[in-house]
Amino acid sequence: MQPQEQTPLAGLRVLVACEFTGTVREAFRKLGADALSCDLLDTEIPGAHYQGDVRDLLRDGLWHLMIAHPPCTHLAVSGARWFGKKQAEQAAALDFVRCLLDAPVPHIAIENPVSVISSKIRKPDQVIQPWQFGHGETKATCLWLRNLSPLTPTDVVDGRDARIHKMPPSADRWKLRSRTYQGIADAMAHQWGIQCMTKLNGSST
Ligand SMILES: C[S@@+](CC[C@H](N)C(=O)[O-])C[C@H]1O[C@@H](n2cnc3c(N)ncnc32)[C@H](O)[C@@H]1O
Repeated sequence: MQPQEQTPLAGLRVLVACEFTGTVREAFRKLGADALSCDLLDTEIPGAHYQGDVRDLLRDGLWHLMIAHPPCTHLAVSGARWFGKKQAEQAAALDFVRCLLDAPVPHIAIENPVSVISSKIRKPDQVIQPWQFGHGETKATCLWLRNLSPLTPTDVVDGRDARIHKMPPSADRWKLRSRTYQGIADAMAHQWGIQCMTKLNGSST
């Protein structure tokens, strides 16, 4: 195998915002991308990680691609019964999403569950499910895209378990619920990574 085939994303600068697991970051790095994860929390998988506010890193020209997983606590429709008491928190959460959507990065994907982003900002460009990417589970995941094509399902499987929905209450429930599925992370790296590289190789920058 030629070195270029092993690292097809060499030279691609990717910011994975609001990721503590390192799942998407490592999927990109496996293909040779210069990927950095960023979160207020430390990274679970040791590696290229900035622990701090992602807004510190949103400078013009730094990144070719950003994939962001902003907190959904005050946005997800599943928590609608609390919205009345949390209007200030929801407004701040929406401002954060707007900041990510408007970031000076040419290719952007924002990921969130079914949420008020759809009614307050705009409808998602795509809704995917884990069962389309090799995991026999349901969890509708919305994607808001800038200069990226919708993901093509990679491995449609039979299972339709609502595992995430059925998780019992616990201190780290939000962490368990929010982890990106490996099959989706791999699809992002393969499909969006190659798409960005094609653009990059066709331009002079
Ligand atoms: C829904 S979780 C996303 C988890 C992700 N899917 C993963 O696999 O690691 C949202 C994350 O956003 C982080 N976060 C919140 N505000 C942030 C900020 N201003 N800058 C960076 N990360 C932030 C939280 O700490 C939390 O880990």
